[in-house]
Amino acid sequence: MSANPYPLGLWLAGLRAVVVGGGAVATRRVPALLDAGADVLLVTPELTPALRAHADAGRLRWVPRRFVPDDLDGAWLVQVAVDDPAAAAEVSSAAAERQIFCVRADDRRAATAWTPAVTRYGPVTVAVLGGGDPRRAVTVRDAIRTLLHERTGPFLSDSVEQGPPVNTRSAVDVLPGRTGRGGRVALVGAGPGDPELITLKGWRLLTEADVVVADRLVPGLLLDELRSGVELVDASKIPYGPSRAQEEINQILVDRALAGAFVVRLKGGDPYVFGRGGEELLACAAAGVPVTVVPGVTSSIAAPAAAGIPVTHRAVAHEFTVVSGHVAPDSPDSLVRWDALAGLRGTLVILMGLRNLPAITATLLTHGRPADTPVAVVQEATTGAQRIIRSTLGEVAADTAAAGLRPPAVVVVGDVVVALGGLLGTEGR
Ligand SMILES: C[S@@+](CC[C@H](N)C(=O)[O-])C[C@H]1O[C@@H](n2cnc3c(N)ncnc32)[C@H](O)[C@@H]1O
Repeated sequence: MSANPYPLGLWLAGLRAVVVGGGAVATRRVPALLDAGADVLLVTPELTPALRAHADAGRLRWVPRRFVPDDLDGAWLVQVAVDDPAAAAEVSSAAAERQIFCVRADDRRAATAWTPAVTRYGPVTVAVLGGGDPRRAVTVRDAIRTLLHERTGPFLSDSVEQGPPVNTRSAVDVLPGRTGRGGRVALVGAGPGDPELITLKGWRLLTEADVVVADRLVPGLLLDELRSGVELVDASKIPYGPSRAQEEINQILVDRALAGAFVVRLKGGDPYVFGRGGEELLACAAAGVPVTVVPGVTSSIAAPAAAGIPVTHRAVAHEFTVVSGHVAPDSPDSLVRWDALAGLRGTLVILMGLRNLPAITATLLTHGRPADTPVAVVQEATTGAQRIIRSTLGEVAADTAAAGLRPPAVVVVGDVVVALGGLLGTEGR
């Protein structure tokens, strides 16, 4: 009589799972057991560096010897990840005697449990068994993963989650909130410009949103893919000055969430890097609205990277400083010690600095940063409109003006600008 496998989700938190073997298969299997909270006992004379790191960090217990049947005492599950069929069979038979399910990497027909191909999407876990063909399972799993990323909606959202609490590996669930109507806000970093540079979590939340409040600098293509019926608020079109506009944005976030909506506040780069994300979080906190913060790829690192510039490089720069140049160095409102920055050797990344670039470079030169320090300016990094110029601290203000560069742009100062020899395309110098 042929039979089919019986699918189950195992709640292994605090329960003993024994892994026999310390090679590549064990290295792949252990993280999911740890993620499930299992009490992992690893039995193997030798192990990979990745497994040793888990052992060193105290995430599992390593028994550095060959398997003996007593290793299974108290176990609920055993994973056999050894190549030697005789050694694997010994574990199998010890497991069978104790009525413990046994996964066999070497011979699935001899196993009493199979590990599926898995994809996770927020609170949803999809596990695929391929009828004994692991490649078929992976192919189907990949197709489902693509569907989930392309065609999801609110039915997959955390807010409709039921049953035991699931660790959705949340970004930063900063505020538990007390709205009681299911409304909530996610502050999501959209990345610097290339729509593929949003995080998976950010993208998922975006596809689940009822309302999206978007900044001027967020990649337009992300908005193109929102599901129909989403209310899109263009925050850059809100009239009034910057501080009044920010109050309006805060109010929109709070009002929509209190009305029960899932609001995604989509911000360029990272929400907390000159992004006023903190103010929005505080406004939500004051109104009792729960907030999740999803960090983003910030232009302060991505724009240099897009120009072939690492912000740190061995033996070149051991520090990088990110600073806003939107306030002139001699303004009483400036919070930046430009004189101190001039004394640093490392990388200086200046955001919002084009308008004040002549004054900024003059101040850095006055306070001792050498005039021949390499500088690059990267405009609209990671987009099709990206432009790069390379210059020096003494000449970059004039070169930028001559090239007609305009915001958004990042200015990178320091030897890292030439560390990789200008591997990517340049313009101007
Ligand atoms: C208000 S700040 C927001 C920064 C954003 N939160 C981040 O983490 O990238 C806007 C400034 O970021 C920089 N910026 C943002 N996107 C950029 C891009 N694609 N290329 C170059 N600079 C960019 C520019 O200096 C721009 O004036």
